[in-house]
Amino acid sequence: MCGIVGYIGNEQAAPVLIDGLSRLEYRGYDSAGVAVFNGQRLEVVKSKGKLAVLSDMIHGGADIKGTVGIGHTRWATHGAPSDTNAHPHLSTSERFAVIHNGIIENYMELKNKLISRGVSFVSDTDTEVIAQMVEYYYNGDIFDTMVKVLNRVEGSYALGVIDRDNPDEIVAVRKDSPLIIGVAENGYFIASDVPAILNRTREVYYPDEKEIIFLHRDGVTIYNFDHEAVEKELVHIDWDADAAEKGGYEHFMIKEIMEQPKAIADTIESRIKDGRVRLDDIELTAQQISDIDKIYIVACGSAYHVGMVGKYVLERLVKKTVDVDLASEFRYRSPLVTDKTLVIVISQSGETADTRAAMAEAKKLGARTLAVVNVLGSSIAKAADDVIYTWAGPEIAVATTKAYSCQLAVLYLLGIYMAQETGLLSAEEEIEMLRELLSLPGKIQSILDKRDDIQYYASLHYNEKNIFFIGRNLDYAVSLEGSLKLKEISYIHSEAYAAGELKHGTISLIEDGTLVVAVATQDRLFDKTMSNVVEVISRGATTLGVSKETRSDIRNTCDFAFLVPETDDLFMPSLSVIPLQLFGYYVASMKGCDIDKPRNLAKSVTVE
Ligand code: F6R
Repeated sequence: MCGIVGYIGNEQAAPVLIDGLSRLEYRGYDSAGVAVFNGQRLEVVKSKGKLAVLSDMIHGGADIKGTVGIGHTRWATHGAPSDTNAHPHLSTSERFAVIHNGIIENYMELKNKLISRGVSFVSDTDTEVIAQMVEYYYNGDIFDTMVKVLNRVEGSYALGVIDRDNPDEIVAVRKDSPLIIGVAENGYFIASDVPAILNRTREVYYPDEKEIIFLHRDGVTIYNFDHEAVEKELVHIDWDADAAEKGGYEHFMIKEIMEQPKAIADTIESRIKDGRVRLDDIELTAQQISDIDKIYIVACGSAYHVGMVGKYVLERLVKKTVDVDLASEFRYRSPLVTDKTLVIVISQSGETADTRAAMAEAKKLGARTLAVVNVLGSSIAKAADDVIYTWAGPEIAVATTKAYSCQLAVLYLLGIYMAQETGLLSAEEEIEMLRELLSLPGKIQSILDKRDDIQYYASLHYNEKNIFFIGRNLDYAVSLEGSLKLKEISYIHSEAYAAGELKHGTISLIEDGTLVVAVATQDRLFDKTMSNVVEVISRGATTLGVSKETRSDIRNTCDFAFLVPETDDLFMPSLSVIPLQLFGYYVASMKGCDIDKPRNLAKSVTVE
């Protein structure tokens, strides 16, 4: 969603801002703007549409001179995408410029109050209220003013503010929205996310909620709301230099698909030692695990699909009841949570509004919370009792692939760890499982090496109108993800069904030539799923089977088959999802879709 960049230093700010914003494009946006102090006034340029439009208007930033500025990509919430509603917003006297990510929930009440006191507004946004309030309450001391404003504001925000009359400073603050501070040789940054500034610095502060940050040309100071200086640890980001670049690939998505063997190896290898899982990051003792009455897994989108796999994995290994819930449902349904309940939340960004709120609700009800998160220092990571990081590196494409795979890997580790700690696995069983887990990166690589087969199959089907995915148990969980991958980037209508459920309604949608993708990797269920394949074939369907090398007999039933290497059936989702990711990618690529930034979608969904 909205992207924020601010810069103060020795370089010209506008080109730096445009460059930083371009690296946040993946978050999703519909307008963009910058405000730079040009020696006399705050020069604001904004435009609806792509960042390239804004960049062309100011020749990449060269037209605006000044070394302090703020920039923004907006994903519309309050007010349509338009030049006027784009950020930065100015106060009436044009003294203060503000950028904002988040939602000011009580903005109407605040706006009406200001209007009744003679302030007029030009946009429909909630953000303009902040710019006007800063001006209205300004008493000569910007710290005091910010506290006064923020004490009146309800909702979420990451804010950057500059003052025409004190142009050697950027003021920033966050609550429930992401914001980082970058420390570079040539200046200081604020940004929504690390990739925005990774080409300029790897040294980052992660401010906490309600800390007011002052960026000057010679340093950064951070205060709490009581005006006490706060010490922060400078964190070094050690992602590969090209982690946030396309590195020769046509899209981030295919680059990230190809990075999966390394991402999974990074996520699991350091956590397996001497035939045992070591989760040094969490404090979950054998007694605490035994005491757990129930496990909830709560997440959104693809992370929810990981949770579906997690349910099968944890129930099988840990022998506890596991419920998987969409975060947007969980938070409003009075879940039966006690202080013995473990709530696992899964989130790549660590900022998803519904997941955060669901976790807060679970904590309120007394549950222990464990977060599986990719983004270091994100809100969910900070708020959870325990965190297990996925080491996927930055994920830029909106459609998740490598973070999904690393989340799966973490759930496998967690399941084995909980079973190991409570004596549910013999040493031999554990060694065997870990050997298989460690072999996954190599097996995924061998699937990726055969990606031409999937590309060929995609070339036969990129014009389909409807594509169905079917599978049972773990294969059903993977089908859900395969279907989401395909539809979100190719815009082809697609549904996933538990294979046994088809004849309870959906089979009436199958007609001559309808493509049905059948995932059938579970030995126990293979014949059952094949019966369902036969049912759709006899109604005219064309079928793609996804199974494993030892089940090449799938070719006797399906028109075309893609076989992945053999592994423990429990780990099959890690392998079977790869051809489905590739299929979605190649179909979308052949249709000429904007793969990394599909329409209407945002990478980090920070609104409800
Ligand atoms: C789909 C996708 C989304 C996310 C969902 C949750 O490809 O990426 O469905 O999985 O929005 O996002 P996080 O994991 O950041 O909480």
